[in-house]
Amino acid sequence: MKNLLSMEHLSNEEIMSILDRAQHFENGKEPILKRAYNVANIFFEPSTRTKTSFEMAERRLGCTVIPFDAEFSSTTKGETLYDTVRTLEMIGIDAVVIRDKEDEYYNELLEGIGCAVINAGDGAGQHPSQCLLDLYTIRKEFGEFEGLNITIVGDISHSRVAKSNATALQRLGANIRFLCPPAWAGDFEAAHSWDEVLEDSDVIMLLRIQHERHSVSKNFSKESYHEEYGLTVEREKLMKKNAIIMHPAPVNRDVEIADALVECERSRIFQQVRNGVYTRMAILETILKGRD
Ligand code: CP
Repeated sequence: MKNLLSMEHLSNEEIMSILDRAQHFENGKEPILKRAYNVANIFFEPSTRTKTSFEMAERRLGCTVIPFDAEFSSTTKGETLYDTVRTLEMIGIDAVVIRDKEDEYYNELLEGIGCAVINAGDGAGQHPSQCLLDLYTIRKEFGEFEGLNITIVGDISHSRVAKSNATALQRLGANIRFLCPPAWAGDFEAAHSWDEVLEDSDVIMLLRIQHERHSVSKNFSKESYHEEYGLTVEREKLMKKNAIIMHPAPVNRDVEIADALVECERSRIFQQVRNGVYTRMAILETILKGRD
């Protein structure tokens, strides 16, 4: 694996290999990298989890993390992404982790760039490292994906997490359902109400409303969205025994999920964050070891 750009490029075997390696790291075992690789994290959109988690993973793998501040980079003077990455490559960077607001920004890096590219989120396109940590979290819980009912709720059409997870989980045998306001379903067919999906879901995966990707604001107050599409305290009581709640975060409490449920027994929201470090170690190791 040279790059990680989209879940559509990964075979089921490659996915399972990364999840196994994440488990290896969670078990406290060592990486197999032969040298200290140089990595830069290039984020043109805000991030708390993904950026910090990649940096923690890089440090645990013994990489040298070269600081890159998008706001003070020469991209603000008009330098292209290609020229930025090519420049970093010439300076000695082995891998770049990139988040950008453009869908498929990575297409301009496919020719002529020698360093590895890891997609940390492209617009409303894909978020493969989030997807892999979500898969790791689900596999830890249920052991397999085949036959699981997984319901993704919220701003589906603007969510890269929804697309990456739908692609991968369907291929791994899970039954994926969507629940969202009709205008946010995109190409997916969505359920009409919680009644159709609540009681038989093994996983309820909630999504934040991606206001930054909406061209027009929708007619929802926080309260009305929570009432119609949020996971309320009353709805949680109807969930199946052993069913879990997931959310890629950041969470808007009392909008997509009731404040009281964020750290309830069923919630895996903060475990997802922890699992992200092991999963990103596995992603980086898989890619970097191919450069030895
Ligand atoms: N889940 C996720 O991508 O969070 P950040 O935007 O904080 O990285």
